[in-house]
Amino acid sequence: MSIRRIAVSTGGGDAPGLNAVIRAVVLSALRRGWRCVGIRDGYNGLLDPRGYPHGGLVALERDSVRGLTHLGGTILGTTNRGNPLRYPTPAPEGRTVETDRTDELVARFREEGLDALVAVGGDGSLAIAHALARQGLPVVGVPKTIDNDLDQTVVTFGFDTAVEFATECIDRLHSTAESHQRVLVIEVMGRYAGWIALHAGVAASADAILIPEIPYAIERVAEKIAERERNGRHFSIVVVAEGARPRGGGLTVQEAAAAGRAERLGGVGEKVAAELSRLTGKESRTVVLGHLLRGGRPTANDRLIALRFGAAAVRALAEGHSGVMVALNPPEVLYVPLSAGIRRMKCVPVEGDTVRTARDLGISFGD
Ligand code: F6P
Repeated sequence: MSIRRIAVSTGGGDAPGLNAVIRAVVLSALRRGWRCVGIRDGYNGLLDPRGYPHGGLVALERDSVRGLTHLGGTILGTTNRGNPLRYPTPAPEGRTVETDRTDELVARFREEGLDALVAVGGDGSLAIAHALARQGLPVVGVPKTIDNDLDQTVVTFGFDTAVEFATECIDRLHSTAESHQRVLVIEVMGRYAGWIALHAGVAASADAILIPEIPYAIERVAEKIAERERNGRHFSIVVVAEGARPRGGGLTVQEAAAAGRAERLGGVGEKVAAELSRLTGKESRTVVLGHLLRGGRPTANDRLIALRFGAAAVRALAEGHSGVMVALNPPEVLYVPLSAGIRRMKCVPVEGDTVRTARDLGISFGD
């Protein structure tokens, strides 16, 4: 089928580089003589157009994407509450249930004369993209997440920006930790993977790094702090991934999963600080970096990956591909099946070089 009009959507949590992807998709599409529209807030602009006084679709012209590359966020909006496969729908007695609205969504694409889709998102959004492709809609996925937990691509855009910022924050916290002889616990995002904590922790010379892939014993972390004390180092920096958990223990969850919504992690840093304070007798404080890691200007590296991914996604459609996602496999950007991209989460390899480097530097993982 020849393509005349394509849609682009951004879903899940925002990540630095999304706007650069949109720019690359639009410019690459216009060069091929295609028209381009953006869907607001994931797929909500198509599923619930009445919620948008000016329409749930935005025409994307040359002028719409000027000056976008360096801007954080997404001009289309995004949501992690609008998964069409598990759409939160009001039910009797004030309940909310999940319904599959994929058929309806595919019908809406056809009604709007949209010939193909570039779906930018994390595992949830790429699973939706996969479902849409299986229904016959030409779809190419673009992997996105600050967490770097998507398989089949060496890295996703957003990760470098998050690590850069976390590293700067930890650098800055060193001075207070040292001046006040405190233990500073820095909690970073990353969901069930420890990539951000590991990379920022090593880059910023943390003394301990706690990641989901290596369950910790808090006593081991306390021993590391005590060893530093004996060596005349009266402060310590502990970086904790939000998904870190003690040996034999569970995740720290702020908000349980509900219809159309994944569980929200957070709070493990506070627990770790309280336990370290009790075990070491030292004043321990927590800093939660949270959404700061998702904001701000993408690094040059992330901009480049995002632009390359956006352009490659349009090339893939032009070459007749569907049901694939673009993936970085340096020096190339490849197309891999979406089914492979969503099959499993990419965790930190516990025997990998970065973990081994950290251990060689004397960083404790609490194990
Ligand atoms: O996937 C990106 C991410 O920032 C995770 O690191 C974090 O667990 C989650 O999103 C937070 O989502 P929300 O902004 O919906 O609380």
